[in-house]
Amino acid sequence: MIHAKDSLAGVAPYAPGRPTSEIKRKYGLSHVVKLASNENPLGASPKAVEAVKKSAESVFLYPDPDSFNLRTALADYHGLKPDQFVFGTGSDGLIELVCKTFLGEGDESIMPAPSFSLYALNVLSAGATPVEVPLDENWHYSPVAMLPYITDRTKVIWLCNPNNPTGGIFTEEEQTAFLNQVPEDILVIIDEAYYEYAATVGSYPNSLKQLKNRKNILILRTFSKIYGLAGLRVGYGMGDPAIISEMEKTRPPFNVCSSAQAAAEASLADCEFVNRSLAENCENMAYLEDAFSAMGLSFVKSYTNFIAVNTGKDSKTVYEKLLTLGYIVKGGHVLGMPGYLRVTVGTREECEGFVAALSQVLKELN
Ligand SMILES: Cc1ncc(COP(=O)(O)O)c(C=O)c1O
Repeated sequence: MIHAKDSLAGVAPYAPGRPTSEIKRKYGLSHVVKLASNENPLGASPKAVEAVKKSAESVFLYPDPDSFNLRTALADYHGLKPDQFVFGTGSDGLIELVCKTFLGEGDESIMPAPSFSLYALNVLSAGATPVEVPLDENWHYSPVAMLPYITDRTKVIWLCNPNNPTGGIFTEEEQTAFLNQVPEDILVIIDEAYYEYAATVGSYPNSLKQLKNRKNILILRTFSKIYGLAGLRVGYGMGDPAIISEMEKTRPPFNVCSSAQAAAEASLADCEFVNRSLAENCENMAYLEDAFSAMGLSFVKSYTNFIAVNTGKDSKTVYEKLLTLGYIVKGGHVLGMPGYLRVTVGTREECEGFVAALSQVLKELN
């Protein structure tokens, strides 16, 4: 029997949200709603879809290895220089690149827990050791909580803001206090996959402005969430050109396909779609919060397009019963939040259907 390297012994693979086709097959259902992977229920910008159709004409060619057009558009959009960007096959791809580039045997990498599980998985794949810092009893963490865990082996610290799976945020003040104290030779990754949902909150950090005078930060963003391009796999990192050029050493040259580059560029220009997505998310988030309160269920205040609700029951059981009713969510048992479900904010109809299904399941379990 061939075994993965020792550092991966006992590691469970990432547990992605199940696709609707699989659940339809498995339970003989004709209608299944997926609220498990924090996709945009409105789909993608029509401009992005148009760009993908157009890009089909050039599928026989390798993509632009530098993502020149997308890079230029983003540099313009964020007021940064083109050499401050690195592109990934989703931000997943960038998390992997960070670990491949900066971590090896004997290194340590600090992260909040629970948080996005791919940090620990990729740290382990690189042969390094994940050091997990538990969230407080309200599922909150302040980045300064990472500081006592720093040793002379620490190479990378992960911050996830808003945090997945809790949906919570830390403030600009909390972030700055941390950045002022963290040694300059430690790379700080600020994963802002849900940035657009939180950006309007006054206390949410403006991380980009930190790039002006700090050389040890990489900010991760993605087109998978509010831009609705999860299926195309495109994310980007922003940081000091010296960090970027190190990552270019390990980046596969054609890691962002032509359709993804074209769609991402078109999406960036469609503010109307982003604003509409935000407005609907806000309304349907409020609907879910009200519905959970009415059911007597507590939840974590979320600044994203998902919400973690405490069912007070075994989450695996609730998760599995919901599947039989055609609702795919994420169970807290795989997220480090036992008893909870993490639910993506869908359309109003999807949210109403989910609330009805959850009420039915909880009634059955009472
Ligand atoms: C916090 C966080 N980071 C990164 C990702 C990866 O996103 P993608 O690879 O689709 O860009 C996700 C996806 O759910 C996420 O929640």
